[in-house]
Amino acid sequence: MLSFHQVRHGYDLPAGGRREVLRKLDLKLASGEFHVILGRSGCGKSTLLRLLAGLETPEHGALEGDRSAIGVVFQEPRLMPWLTVAQNAGFLLAHRLDRSETRRRVASALAMVGLADAADLRPDKLSGGMAQRVAIARALVSRPKLLLMDEPFGALDAFTRKQMQDELIRIWQTTGTTIVFVTHDIEEAIRLGRTILVLEEGQVALDLKLAAAYPRPVSGAEIESARQQLFSRFFPAPRIPAPAGPRSGELHDPTD
Ligand SMILES: Nc1ncnc2c1ncn2[C@@H]1O[C@H](COP(=O)(O)OP(=O)(O)OP(=O)(O)O)[C@@H](O)[C@H]1O
Ligand SMILES: [Mg+2]
Repeated sequence: MLSFHQVRHGYDLPAGGRREVLRKLDLKLASGEFHVILGRSGCGKSTLLRLLAGLETPEHGALEGDRSAIGVVFQEPRLMPWLTVAQNAGFLLAHRLDRSETRRRVASALAMVGLADAADLRPDKLSGGMAQRVAIARALVSRPKLLLMDEPFGALDAFTRKQMQDELIRIWQTTGTTIVFVTHDIEEAIRLGRTILVLEEGQVALDLKLAAAYPRPVSGAEIESARQQLFSRFFPAPRIPAPAGPRSGELHDPTD
């Protein structure tokens, strides 16, 4: 279990003043769970991941729990163009493990993401989906207990994205790693998350549990209810002003 206790974190603005991003955030992340952090652009999702990854330390409050084995996947694959797929995937292990163990782990991670046959290719020969698979393999080779993913499928087309989502579920089920997956796509959150946390104004505005089995159906009572709650949270129905006056219901010139 990982937890944020009353975490406050923000940034100084170049023109002076301050932007408070996380405001007394309380959050619990259960071990082995698939969490989705959902929120609008700029609400602090990446900030939250950076704190979890230890790239930044919270200014106030505390973060508790074991974060000793972390894998991170960003929105772009960030591969090194001069290295092969296998070298890219094994890059972070190269100085920590001996060659044969690195090779074994890379082969197993590439098989897990469906790239066993692409080990010797260079990044310029890969499609966007394949490149992102390499990035996932690179995160998996260190056998993370916590996998942090920041909009990893944001740049993929709808078909590849669905395929990658299904693969990620399979990887999660096989490895048992705790996942924290950031997105601003409601349908992606519903397809993936067992816990969906909506981040708003620097706090968790909604904590939704979704028990539906994978691969998730597109409809059904539980899915529809989650969709309804999330859409109404982000897109509240416009308020139509009540008609006024004796001729209510008629269209009239408002300057009358
Ligand atoms: N290093 C930084 N210095 C100054 N401001 C920052 C820094 N990092 C983030 N911010 C600001 O903090 C706010 C939250 O940023 P963050 O990147 O966490 O948002 P996000 O929810 O990940 O957005 P997106 O969905 O667009 O990626 C934004 O207003 C951003 O401009
Ligand atoms: Mg972000």
